[in-house]
Amino acid sequence: MPHIIAVDGPAAAGKGTLARRLAAALDLPYLDTGLLYRAVGRLVLDEGADPADAAIAESCARRLQPSDLDRADLRGPAADHAASNVAAVPGVRAALLDFQRDFGRRHGAVLDGRDIGTVVFPNAPVKLFITATPRARAERRWRELLAKDPSATLEAVESEMAARDARDAARSTAPMLPAADAVLLDTTGLDAEAAFQRALSIVRERLGLAATPA
Ligand code: CDP
Repeated sequence: MPHIIAVDGPAAAGKGTLARRLAAALDLPYLDTGLLYRAVGRLVLDEGADPADAAIAESCARRLQPSDLDRADLRGPAADHAASNVAAVPGVRAALLDFQRDFGRRHGAVLDGRDIGTVVFPNAPVKLFITATPRARAERRWRELLAKDPSATLEAVESEMAARDARDAARSTAPMLPAADAVLLDTTGLDAEAAFQRALSIVRERLGLAATPA
């Protein structure tokens, strides 16, 4: 089986930036699995339906097309909320499982999400669980959001994020949870470069790869 690197963790912990850089450094494809749930959430909203409606959410997941992942409206509070609601529907998760596994099996991959190391690829040779304090994560997401919405407040971002993390951790199917064999990496106080260097050395050690000179 080609190399699979699982990168899980709560909202805005820095998984995406880290996973993308790891993929580039290791010459592996990258999949942001959150985009799948975001796109399903958007399809449900397009229908004027409630993302927590299990039947509609599952039917949207079953007709998800690759082009849906290119939509420009997959980020922001409405998409965050819709994604975490459809993500709690077991039929949605089942519908997205094969796509994620096929993607990884073809050439190996770095995948980031919530359940990559526990459900999607439980045998992945490297699993990282990326965390940071709720305040540090909320500050990062707030700064991103300010560019689009200058009226966004840190308090609102922090409370919406706490609600989403609680929903992701409490759902009965594939809850957000570090795999027993995951390495925890706390990125509070680390910039993107420092987090990447730590993650890369963990990955190299786990895969038995020698460090290559920069
Ligand atoms: O970027 P951020 O960490 O805020 O979110 P994301 O990774 O894009 O994920 C958005 C939502 O999709 C999460 O809040 C989860 O509810 C859901 N998700 C999931 O359930 N399982 C995954 N493997 C990835 C995302």
